[in-house]
Amino acid sequence: MTPYLAAAPPPAVRVRAPGKVNLSLRVGALQDDGYHPLATIFQAVALYEEVTATQAPQGAGISLTVSGPQSDVVPLDETNLAWRAADLLARHTGVAADVALHVTKGVPVAGGMAGGSADAAAALVACDALWETGVPRSELALIAAELGSDVPFSLLGHTAVGTGRGQILTPAMTRGEFHWVFAAQAEGLSTPRVFAAYDGLVTDAPMPDPASDAALMSALRAGDPVALGRTLHNDLQEAALSLRPSLREVLGVANEAGALGAIVSGSGPTVAALARSRQHALAVAATWTARGVADSVWCATAPAQGARVLTAVAPA
Ligand code: C5P
Repeated sequence: MTPYLAAAPPPAVRVRAPGKVNLSLRVGALQDDGYHPLATIFQAVALYEEVTATQAPQGAGISLTVSGPQSDVVPLDETNLAWRAADLLARHTGVAADVALHVTKGVPVAGGMAGGSADAAAALVACDALWETGVPRSELALIAAELGSDVPFSLLGHTAVGTGRGQILTPAMTRGEFHWVFAAQAEGLSTPRVFAAYDGLVTDAPMPDPASDAALMSALRAGDPVALGRTLHNDLQEAALSLRPSLREVLGVANEAGALGAIVSGSGPTVAALARSRQHALAVAATWTARGVADSVWCATAPAQGARVLTAVAPA
């Protein structure tokens, strides 16, 4: 009788990376490179993208599948940020880019919460572990910045001040846990379009100064959600509202539900509301749902950890 030999599974690594909300987003005037100087405070929220990287046969190249909410609108080719991340890491380290990527969405798509950036951050960490390339985090952050302005923050997680295009990060001290609720829309907003609308509305934006957020930083250090709610700020909000006027009602309903603060998240269209507690977060979510102003509603605590390996199946 031939003995039964179970085929060993190919090596695989599963990584998760968080979405974010900008507690403050201050935007300067458009520069010659097509970008705007930012002073922002990112907070990672416990909504995660998961990327599983599985070793593919030699010469197979990169392949990609996606599952989870709104996965039908995510590109499956080399324009996907997870794909681009694997490709860029392979070029950087000189390894063959043979990997099957699977993305499980957990952050609203094109919602201003950096879901695509989280895919890129998770793919970088997953492929680095799978290919045993041992790239230090500081170097991964530089590769991340080539992929998009929000990718380095998804690697880092927690709460951080971002300057430059948003990719120069300084960790910020916080105390305790904050309770967020997000109202997401089925139809996303394009980040470049929102920045272009901002340029149309604001012609003399000064260089943004992170020092403008001293009160917000002290609310974070004190773990004071009431003070944090009062200091939330987003320079892109009016631009997002000009493209999607219905978001005014989403903000209004959050305020009626007693949110400590409500803002458009990043370039939108997701609206973020800060709640007093887990129970209050559920109440805000229920109010948004009952009023029919969001296509989906998500509750999450913050801050959350940056991109990290969940499981790794080692080579046989
Ligand atoms: O860096 P990322 O690819 O995520 O940026 C997407 C687009 O958002 C850019 O092409 C640019 O139009 C806009 N953007 C900007 N200023 C920033 C970040 C992004 O104008 N600091």
